[in-house]
Amino acid sequence: MNIAYLNGNFLPKEEIKISPDDRGFLFADGIYEVMKWYGGFFYDSQSHTTRLKRSLREIQLKWDEADTFISLSNELIKLNSLNDKNAMVYIQVTRGAAPRTHHFPDYPVRPTVYAFAKELPTSKEQGLAGIGIMLKEDIRWTRCDIKSVSLLPNVLGMQEANENGFAECIFARNGFITEGSHSNIFFVHNGILRTHQESEFILSGVTRKNVIRMAKKAGIPLKEEALHEKELINIEEAFITNSTGEITPVNLINEITVGNGFPGAVTSLLINEFRAEIASLKV
Ligand code: PDD
Repeated sequence: MNIAYLNGNFLPKEEIKISPDDRGFLFADGIYEVMKWYGGFFYDSQSHTTRLKRSLREIQLKWDEADTFISLSNELIKLNSLNDKNAMVYIQVTRGAAPRTHHFPDYPVRPTVYAFAKELPTSKEQGLAGIGIMLKEDIRWTRCDIKSVSLLPNVLGMQEANENGFAECIFARNGFITEGSHSNIFFVHNGILRTHQESEFILSGVTRKNVIRMAKKAGIPLKEEALHEKELINIEEAFITNSTGEITPVNLINEITVGNGFPGAVTSLLINEFRAEIASLKV
């Protein structure tokens, strides 16, 4: 039985009921966060908590217990017997249930806080040989730095990618490659590791931030500067990052083969660095 969390209570997921007046349901008026559990610890839970609080602040949503995120996540792991497994915790906070008005409710409304844990495969072999990704125009809003639950362009992009046999959809805004539907993207171009600079056009990924730290430590030349579509024909390597998938090599972008079609040296080095860090954190 899957035990989930709703507004202070842990209960079987199928018993959870959310009002049809919930502003998350009516307006996608809410934010979310996803972090990964590695059989004993959450990876960089501090960054996920900081980003959760930032997302809440940016949409002027007050959840006084935001600091309970880690303890309730730990509880979900325990209650679902996931202690020695790999898992993800998802949390969503919405502006609560109130009669439908576009502006915020006229009276104080308790936010709706929903969270669940889900088991993930223990070893990540899937995708390690490289995945194909589809490039599409970025039709999203200009506050992609907020981890909003309003993900329709991401959903439509990912669906189209799936239907065409690609594993992720990557967006380009005015020709500049921003990020994926649920990942950040890195390229190696002329020997330099490139990824879109932090801005309102991308989510500041926790994995992105840690990969940048590892790349700097390993002495890899790095530029936080968006790559233009026109530069794609000259890239040597590409990979995407996110909390659940970590680092996934990309070997095909639309019809362009990346490098020699196999994960390159920089990508492989960073995958090893990431794995080594996880191993060092295991107690
Ligand atoms: N998504 N960009 C977007 C649009 C994302 O949705 C995500 C993560 C990332 C990577 O962020 P991080 O490294 O902090 O996971 C970048 C999560 C995994 C999701 O929606 O399920």
